Amino acid sequence: MKLPDYKEARKRTNSTVEKEIYELDSSISNIGAGKKYYIKTYGCQMNEHDTENIKAMLEQLGFAEVDDYINADLVLLNTCSIRENAHNKAFGMLGRLKHLKEEKRELIVGLCGCMAQEEKVVDEIMHKYKWVNFVFGTHNIHRLPYILNESFNSMKQEIEVYSKEGNIVEGMPVKRASKYKAYVNIMYGCDKFCTYCIVPYTRGKQRSREKDDIIEEVLKLKEEGYQEVTLLGQNVNAYGKDFSYNYNLENLLEDVSKTNIPRVRFMTSHPWDFTDGMIEVIKKYPNIMPAIHLPVQSGSSKILKLMGRKYTKEEYIELFDKLKTIPNVSISTDIIVGFPNESDEDFKETLDLVNYCKYDNAFTFIFSPRVGTPAAKLEDKITLEEKEQRLYLLNETVNKYFLENNKKLVGQKVKVLTEGTSEKEGMLFGYTETNKLINFVGTDDLIGKIIDIEVTDAKTWSLDGKVC
Ligand code: SAH
Ligand code: SF4
Ligand code: F3S
Repeated sequence: MKLPDYKEARKRTNSTVEKEIYELDSSISNIGAGKKYYIKTYGCQMNEHDTENIKAMLEQLGFAEVDDYINADLVLLNTCSIRENAHNKAFGMLGRLKHLKEEKRELIVGLCGCMAQEEKVVDEIMHKYKWVNFVFGTHNIHRLPYILNESFNSMKQEIEVYSKEGNIVEGMPVKRASKYKAYVNIMYGCDKFCTYCIVPYTRGKQRSREKDDIIEEVLKLKEEGYQEVTLLGQNVNAYGKDFSYNYNLENLLEDVSKTNIPRVRFMTSHPWDFTDGMIEVIKKYPNIMPAIHLPVQSGSSKILKLMGRKYTKEEYIELFDKLKTIPNVSISTDIIVGFPNESDEDFKETLDLVNYCKYDNAFTFIFSPRVGTPAAKLEDKITLEEKEQRLYLLNETVNKYFLENNKKLVGQKVKVLTEGTSEKEGMLFGYTETNKLINFVGTDDLIGKIIDIEVTDAKTWSLDGKVC
């Protein structure tokens, strides 16, 4: 048994990160034969991509996927710790699984992802959820076949969570959710330690993946017909900072662009590390999409300081203005309201900033204290009611600009990667270069292709269009 330990997780050492190649021991390669699995994923793109690896590993073992957990022999929850409601959802699902397990004793239930890295969660699983068969963390996903094998062979609860990040594992199999766009990890972990955030504890030290491995993956995807890659990391702008040689996101963007994969995206960008060189590269290469996610979190420099974001409102605006020089760029953001002791004046500064930036998209949240982070220890006099009121006002403001920006596109021709049939009957959907969802009438042969669409109507969260 290996349990998570926050003290370990918080440590940052200079130890070098090695590369390891994933291998499956042939003696266990059919432990899932004839069995069905269901996996539920919470959280960010990183988790979605981990799920793509987990699915492929399970299928190597002989498991087949089902889309309803009721029919599964193995249910796995890939969890997220970012806010309390992500926790509650996972625990709610565990409640449903407990009932299922009472009827179906042979059901195997596992929990992985960021919640598995939390001391408190694992403690709760060990004491109150003894029927959960196994738990593993974000640093040892590649160990799943072995953990599962142990779990099949023993009647005990298996818990294997490493607090210290391990090697970078290459060569893990992957079952991608899309045939046209793919996630490509470029780095793992985060060293920014924003005071409210759990990620540096659940994902460990910042480690960049080697350039050659990234390029090889992109080239393979291109060969397989993929139209788009999204380079993933918690803070991609810090890519390469842990290398002993000089190679950074600016260089990587340029090299990925030169593979000639039609579309390159990257996320998430921390404003702190955004360089002028990166902006130049984005401008220079047309296959780097002009869509930047630039979380601001707050418009008050006082709150930004308390959050440990390392930039002021003015510095953020300076960067924002530079990014706006990228032709047709769309900029989206994340904002937290109700950080401990955020005053009315602080909140007003956030609204003022939104009124200045007029974001194309924004994800807005109420501050959620995470055990173990510095911000969770701050005394907070603001009531939940006030926080909810702020979130409401903020949402009203950001939504206004989504619609306003979308309306400017009506009558214009945009390039769209068609992804599939829309929820709207008889229509297809896709995304513009600026990452806007667009619905249009078209035939199935357009799916997977980049086509020209004329925007005919604008809504707050989507566009309508017609094939040109
Ligand atoms: N690495 C990314 C963010 C990852 S988490 C970055 O630094 O921009 C995604 C978003 O969740 C954050 O941008 C933040 O807005 C929000 N978030 C993180 N921790 C939170 C917390 N404790 N309470 C509320 N929102 C939080
Ligand atoms: Fe969390 Fe900050 Fe790292 Fe983003 S940069 S993952 S908000 S600590
Ligand atoms: Fe959640 Fe972990 Fe992602 S906490 S947001 S799943 S890195």
